[in-house]
Amino acid sequence: MLKIENLHYTYEDGTSALNGIDLEIARGEFLAILGSNGSGKTTLIKHLNGLLRPGRGRVLLDGKAVEKVEDREVFSRIGIVFQDPNDQLFAATVGEDVAFGPTNMGLAADEVQHRVAKALAQVGMADYARKSVHALSHGQKKRICVAGILAMEPQVVILDEPTAGLDPFGVHSLMHLLQDLNKQGITMIMATHVIDLVPLFMSKIAILSHGQVLRYGTPEEVFGDRESLEKAQLHLPLVAELMHVLKTRDHVNLHHIPLTVGEARREILRLLSVQDVMDKV
Ligand SMILES: Nc1ncnc2c1ncn2[C@@H]1O[C@H](COP(=O)(O)OP(=O)(O)O)[C@@H](O)[C@H]1O
Ligand SMILES: [Mg+2]
Repeated sequence: MLKIENLHYTYEDGTSALNGIDLEIARGEFLAILGSNGSGKTTLIKHLNGLLRPGRGRVLLDGKAVEKVEDREVFSRIGIVFQDPNDQLFAATVGEDVAFGPTNMGLAADEVQHRVAKALAQVGMADYARKSVHALSHGQKKRICVAGILAMEPQVVILDEPTAGLDPFGVHSLMHLLQDLNKQGITMIMATHVIDLVPLFMSKIAILSHGQVLRYGTPEEVFGDRESLEKAQLHLPLVAELMHVLKTRDHVNLHHIPLTVGEARREILRLLSVQDVMDKV
């Protein structure tokens, strides 16, 4: 659906932020763009809906260069939720803000209202349409940004570090919302440096470092490549780190390195039953 070919981008001050990115994003995927600060995540995202124009290389949307597709079509098909909700929200009330996108798409007023109500319900904020945007918490603002994008019924939703500034409950409820949307068929791309979330939610990972894709693959493939992680100044998910230490330093006989608490639990229970150390009931 989205194809990035040899993408380069240099900012006006001479910073070369992207240095030859090649990446393909298939329909229905939940892709993590994983990279430390300054690795080029935001710059890459801004190319995916034409906000920035490639210095060299191209971004193809269903085989067509993004800059050749009409803005209106791009914006309605690819929605971006930026890191700071205050950069994205601008209307006085929640309802007006969420209505902005579909109104701009030229939809009839009743269709706009229908979409606003549906999008607010999807993000669990159905009762907030009349609320002042300024009166919302950070987590609520984030949800309204997502609703504003959903109201355009996009095929792809891209989020730039969406969990930044959220409390643990906020992180989990936002991630589950994104997972639900992905299951409904929306292709999801999320830039993040929160490694522990990745194996729980994402199907593919692209590790970004110095404006290049250092590694691409499934969580199992990417987290199996510690060298690339270290090069990108990243680490394994915490659970995986513990299991890795148990395997390499303590020579515990692990079949594989579990990436999540659930997998680790199964592996530990297997080992315990082998060693017959569990109380028999
Ligand atoms: N507006 C800008 N002008 C100049 N350099 C920038 C600008 N925005 C980002 N950069 C630089 O481009 C590189 C990539 O930044 P960015 O895409 O924001 O990374 P990330 O989102 O992964 O933290 C960094 O070196 C950053 O300093
Ligand atoms: Mg960024």
